[in-house]
Order: sequence, then structure tokens, then C-alpha cells
Amino acid sequence: MDDHKWWKDSVIYQIYPRSFLDTTGNGIGDLNGIIAGFDHLVDLGIGAIWLSPFYPTPDADFGYDVSDHCDVDPRFGSLDDFDELIQSAHKRNIKVILDLVLNHTSDQHPWFLESRSSINNPKRDWYIWRDKKNNWQAVSGGSGWEFDPQTGEYYYHMFLKEQPDVNWHNPEVRKAQLDVVRFWLDRGVDGFRLDVFNVYFKDKLFRDNPPRIGLRGFDRQRHVFDTDQPEMIPFLEELREVFESYKGIYSVGETFNATAALAAEYVGDSALHAAFSFDFNASELFFPWKPSWLLKKIEEREKFFRRNRWPTTVMSNHDTPRAASRYSHNEDDANSRLAMALLLTLRGTPFLYYGEEIGMRDIKLEYSEIKDPPGKKYWPFYKGRDGCRGPMQWNGSKFAGFSSVEPWLPVHPDFPIRNVELQKKDSNSLFHFTKNLMRIRKENAALITGSYSPLDSGNNKVIAYLRISTEQIILVVLNFSSNKEKIHIHRELENSQWESLLNPGHSPFHGNGSLELSPYEVSLLSTRK
Ligand code: GLC
Repeated sequence: MDDHKWWKDSVIYQIYPRSFLDTTGNGIGDLNGIIAGFDHLVDLGIGAIWLSPFYPTPDADFGYDVSDHCDVDPRFGSLDDFDELIQSAHKRNIKVILDLVLNHTSDQHPWFLESRSSINNPKRDWYIWRDKKNNWQAVSGGSGWEFDPQTGEYYYHMFLKEQPDVNWHNPEVRKAQLDVVRFWLDRGVDGFRLDVFNVYFKDKLFRDNPPRIGLRGFDRQRHVFDTDQPEMIPFLEELREVFESYKGIYSVGETFNATAALAAEYVGDSALHAAFSFDFNASELFFPWKPSWLLKKIEEREKFFRRNRWPTTVMSNHDTPRAASRYSHNEDDANSRLAMALLLTLRGTPFLYYGEEIGMRDIKLEYSEIKDPPGKKYWPFYKGRDGCRGPMQWNGSKFAGFSSVEPWLPVHPDFPIRNVELQKKDSNSLFHFTKNLMRIRKENAALITGSYSPLDSGNNKVIAYLRISTEQIILVVLNFSSNKEKIHIHRELENSQWESLLNPGHSPFHGNGSLELSPYEVSLLSTRK
């Protein structure tokens, strides 16, 4: 496959460095730990990793408050370790993409320290300073404007007050940010995930957002003037030109307040390569784990991600409860298999979150153990995002093989029965199911380049769709029920010679176009045209 399109056939594995593997015994994962984990990733069949921030940070938002964009926080290692990580990844054919946090910096970043020092400082205009507030809110609650007594003005922060937003309208800021991008490209990275890229620009006239109905203050506004400003489109063109001046670079934007329609607007040949539409990783409250709902979401993204717009599939990440916790209410992995099958057989680039391959669940915390600021603020109504950031469960030894000392967040108590080492030994484990599916995905181009076409299974507990390429048709059938289910497939399809990809030799059809499925069965059938 064309090297410039490696991201079409690769599965990208998100690593939250702090929680992956600690090699220094400080309770926090590090870059050398990531290198040590490469054998596991190669075994699984991963094509690329996305590293959540490892830059110097005071940790107000655990790395998403960056105090130096071009260095490594000493707790995670050094730039030399980073260079080794890149070399070692590339040797194993693993691409590396970094998290670029460019909407805001830490309030300890030298740029901000200068900017806040006086009204006449040359970097004053690098951030958003005003002598009065408008109605813009912070995502984490309250006004987005923080009064700074030193100079008697307010600065704007969409996230925490420790994360002031930079002023993207200032040409020097744009240049400095593009220098950050080039710094990492020159060090050999293969792309970026852009943190909340669609909020970079804010309305130059600071107009108030209009109201709407919602739960939190932030949700009670239509974000007309603080997100998705028109200046973003020409900026993405400029950014894409920088990417194109290197080889094989991939960019994926974290679309803030994502819908498939909005994310797709930012994807194209002179924009981003991809933007998350987050179709499936919403809270269970808003997203029932039901075929009808899932099909609706798939249809939505298929509608907007067409032609040169390549979709992404995400079930879990560091901001939302893990899929296994949302949809499995016991230790059973039946629902995790269904989620994994969707992730790996829908059209688009799959993003796998560390530990998802062994069905890791969210950790449950006492108030005193909470680290994430929104969790502290809104406890017990919202417990924050620590739950999905628990230490990786490598084996059954103390602290799950993650660290030799008490980790920064507690290990999930199920680690003695749910860990990488155990699942590797068990051919029926979720790990092997995932690995097998990833191999099948690589060997069957229809799962990568094929079109998506839903089938009416006539059974509301079953999802069935086709992935069709010029040479092959793959039929994916997922039974969401705890009972045996039957579906009827169009006779024309029944008459083809189908081969089961997951159970070679198994003959799926029972005459009259009917297909019988065992409880929670994932079936992948292939026929050549
Ligand atoms: C993104 C990150 C999230 C962070 C926020 C502010 O949404 O995924 O973890 O808190 O941006 O940087």
C-alpha cells in the first residue's frame, strides 16, 4: 500500500504515557516503558502509536497544560529517550504520532509568564487579554475569564484557569506554533493528534454567545463565537502545507463538541487527514448499546465521511469511561468483542486505547484518590476522568507489573485475572480475539478499502453489514443478544461461496438464506467476486 496512506491500513494505539509502564520506580509511566511495551504492540499487530502529552507540565490537567512544547518532562525521560523511542518504533514498523496541545499553554509556560508580566510586554498579545468579560464560559465551570490583579485585566481560558488560551490571531503566535510542529517533524514523528483544534480561533469582536437549554453553564450557550471560527480553514491549509513538505505525515483533529457533520468539515486534501467524530464513545446515558442506535450513528458518519474524507473509529480514550465499563456489567467480555469487531471492521482508521485489547475496566476511586480537577469539583455527580486512566495491567504481580512502587492511580483490583500475560496464554481471550481480527483486517483489503453497506437483518438484536471491494465482499454479523438469533440474508448473497474468516471450515448458512448465531456471536464471512 502507498506509504503516504499508512494510516488507512494501520490500527493506531493510544498510549497515556503516565499509565503505561514505569521503568524508573516513581509510580509514573515513562518513555522507556513505552519502548519496553513495543514487543506487546508488535505481537498484537499495531501499526502506529499516539502518545498523549509527555512534555514538561505542572500537571494541572495531567500533561494537557504544557509548559514547554519542545521538551520531555523529566518524569517521563529526556529528548534522548524520545529519539530512541522513535528509532526503536520505526525499526519495528510502528509509526509515532504526538499530541499537539496548541489551543492553550500552562500558566507556567514562559510565554504566559512574560505575557502576564505587564501590559506593554511584547508577548502581551500572545494570549487573550481584556479589560472586561463577556459571557464566554470555561468547560470546567464558571466564567472563562480570570482576573489577573497584577495588570488589572482578565485573560481567557476555555479549560482550567491554569490553561490560558493563546491568541491565534497574532502572527507571531502562529509562527511559534508552526515552529513547534516542525521541531517534532524534524525529530522524525509521523503525525499528530491536534488537541481541541477547532477552538483555536475566537471571535475578534468578543461577541456574547447566544443562550440555549443545557445542564452546565457551558452547555447553556450556543458556541457561535468561541469555537469553529472561519479563520480555522485557511490555517489548516497552511498547516497541511507544512505536513506535505515532509513524507507520510498524518494528522487527526480532536473535534471539540464533535458531530460527524462538524468533524467532516475539517477533513480533506488541503485540511486535516482526519478528525474525530466520536460516534461511539459517549456516556451510556446518551448512547444505549443497541443495534438500532449504533446503526444510526454509523449511518450518520457514512453520510458525511465520503470520497476523500476518511473516518476514524474510537470506542475509548482518556476522556470518557472505557467501552468495557460502559457496556459490560460483569467480568464477561462478550460486549467487548462486539465493540472490538465494530472498531476493526467499520470503514476508517481504528483507534485502540491502551488496555482495551484485554478489556480493561475503569478503576473506581474514593474522593480522596481523585486527581482530575473536574472530578474534584463535581464529585459525586461527576467523578472526573481518572477512571479510564488506570495503570496498564501487564501481569499478576504486585501493581500489575506496571511499577515497583504504588502507582499514581490505583491498579484495578481485577488485575490478577485480567492482564496481558494471562490473556496471551489463553487462546479464547479478548487479546487473541483482537489480534486475530487485526490480522484478518490486514489480510482482507475489503475491510480497509471496501465500501460500507448495511443489511436489513430483519432482527433488531443483530447488526449486519457488507464491506465491498472490487474483488471481495465481507459480511459482518454481530449478535447483541444473550440468546441464539436467526437472520435472513438476501438469496443472492446466500448463493455465493462464503468462507468464515473467524472459524475457517465453518459453514454458516442453513438454507432459505438463514444464518444462525450463537449468543453475542461475531461472524465474519468472505466471498470473492
Ligand atoms: C482535550 C483533551 C483533554 C484535555 C482538554 C484540554 O479534550 O483530550 O484531556 O483536558 O483537551 O486540553
